[in-house]
Amino acid sequence: MEFEEVRKQAESCMKCDLWKTRTNVVFGEGPANAEIMLIGEAPGFYEDKQGKPFVGRAGKFLDELLKAANLRREEVYITNIVKCRPPNNRDPTDEEVKACYPYLDFQINYIKPKVIITLGRHASRVIFERYNLTFEGISKEHGKPREVSNLFGKLKIIPMYHPAAAIYNQSLKSVLIEDFKKALKNV
Ligand code: URA
Ligand code: SF4
Repeated sequence: MEFEEVRKQAESCMKCDLWKTRTNVVFGEGPANAEIMLIGEAPGFYEDKQGKPFVGRAGKFLDELLKAANLRREEVYITNIVKCRPPNNRDPTDEEVKACYPYLDFQINYIKPKVIITLGRHASRVIFERYNLTFEGISKEHGKPREVSNLFGKLKIIPMYHPAAAIYNQSLKSVLIEDFKKALKNV
């Protein structure tokens, strides 16, 4: 199925209860042939209003991280594990993640990125599980690339701390910047 068709389907999706409280579905943003894909957890307040991923405060910091790694936002594909905002930014439930996952699977198989960066422990855990990797927690795994094989060849998965977690934490901020620089140097 074509990318735009699936996006349209998602935009009217009611597969889990999050449709009831969303303003906009945040499908994702970026070129459909991007080599790098970034996956966050779920849209927040501003993302829900604008229908775009990472446009709030965490998004501003993400822009800085990309810049530090010599990447432009326009050259990466950015999305989330679930496409609708959970009320009050609570964590998505297992049920919601499961209901929404086929969209992400489609995006990954269509875009065929060389690298997936997972932002935060929730997104990292979900993606690790999907690729049969054992996740030992974000403080242990952050910045460490894992290589897996999938339908379209080799794929590198790199977990990172969530940019939102670093906004008020200077030392985490430095770790994230270093992880981004290091992990994306040879991509
Ligand atoms: N946090 C996320 O995980 N995703 C967004 O799109 C915004 C904030
Ligand atoms: Fe559909 Fe995903 Fe939104 Fe749930 S979160 S309604 S599965 S698009």
